[in-house]
Amino acid sequence: MNQLQKMIIETFITTPFQQNTRVLACEETRKAVCVDIGDSAQIISNFITENNLDLQAIALTHAHLDHIGGVSDLHKLFPLAEIILHADDEDLYYGLPEQPLFMGIPREQLKALGLEYEVPPKVTRNWQDNETYAVGKLEFKILHCPGHTPGHVVLAEETIRKVFVGDCLFAGSIGRTDLPGGNFEQLMSSINDKILLLGDDFTVYTGHGDETNIGREKATNPF
Ligand SMILES: [Fe+2]
Repeated sequence: MNQLQKMIIETFITTPFQQNTRVLACEETRKAVCVDIGDSAQIISNFITENNLDLQAIALTHAHLDHIGGVSDLHKLFPLAEIILHADDEDLYYGLPEQPLFMGIPREQLKALGLEYEVPPKVTRNWQDNETYAVGKLEFKILHCPGHTPGHVVLAEETIRKVFVGDCLFAGSIGRTDLPGGNFEQLMSSINDKILLLGDDFTVYTGHGDETNIGREKATNPF
């Protein structure tokens, strides 16, 4: 693969949970994916159109509501885009309307909080562990990293040295494991045996909060 290809990375902070929705694109071919989408589909659609990008997929790291709440609206605007999710998160995905309830939010408050969801459109493809997923000239290695949810994946671009980790790892912290399907031992193993092995120079793009890098988290993350 040539070393010169460039990645467009645009971050949109969405939902009351301050989720980082990202559009990633190959600068040369204009092929793009939206990695997770909490809401704000119209704003994201405008960015895609204005930048002459071709959205090939909504690429989901996992199926928590703040990462998938905008899938329905974005897919209505880009009906040909694939929706890709690991099979082990499909129960969470299709259970989206019920997710706020198991987070302890009373049903009568859902509307006021903007957390009333319809069942999202059908997943069109499942991530496979260790597959390579191409977006134009970008190549993402897909790593199944369960723990925060059973079907969580991270997307690692090994040439450009960037990894998109969803809610596995944060700057100075890790993802919560107290929600249904969460497992602390699994999460630690996903982080230690997969994500941290990518290399200290990898920039880490997290599902919430600021970017970091693997070397810094190895040295300073209390977990
Ligand atoms: Fe999450």
